[in-house]
Amino acid sequence: MVTKVLMVCLGNICRSPLAEGLLRSKVDPDLVLVDSAGTANYHIGKRPDERSIAVASKYGIDISHQRCRKIVPSDLEIYDHIYAMDKSNYQKIVSLSQTVAHHCKIRLLMEETASQPWEVPDPYYGGPDGFVEVFHMIDQACDIIARKIALNPK
Ligand code: 4NP
Repeated sequence: MVTKVLMVCLGNICRSPLAEGLLRSKVDPDLVLVDSAGTANYHIGKRPDERSIAVASKYGIDISHQRCRKIVPSDLEIYDHIYAMDKSNYQKIVSLSQTVAHHCKIRLLMEETASQPWEVPDPYYGGPDGFVEVFHMIDQACDIIARKIALNPK
């Protein structure tokens, strides 16, 4: 059985593409399906932000093939785990959920690390250092998620 994970941020061009690429790099592709989406529709169809592509590439991860999409209500049915990068996006995903089962799938990504901060900051309006910082935060959370899924697959 394949475990399906969806990473969600606002624009789906900075944080969640990194989360998609990082988690995918740590799991067996036959056992875990990873995707990402945004809660906004600003950049639909676009590649990830060049600064995300650059930091991922520095660590050997190619995210340039990804294309931005907006989360849709059926994602809450399809995916087993839905990770929000921050509380604002968490609330937007929760507002799409229609059942308790859907609601239970939604978590803040950084909660997996069991240590603050609970939110991955939005690096969009900052410089490249912000992208390096969020890369390492997301990397830490994805290590834990990959281990958890390996121990407890769907
Ligand atoms: P993301 O960052 O949610 O990590 O993809 C953002 C990307 C674009 C915008 C905001 C945040 N924007 O306002 O266009």
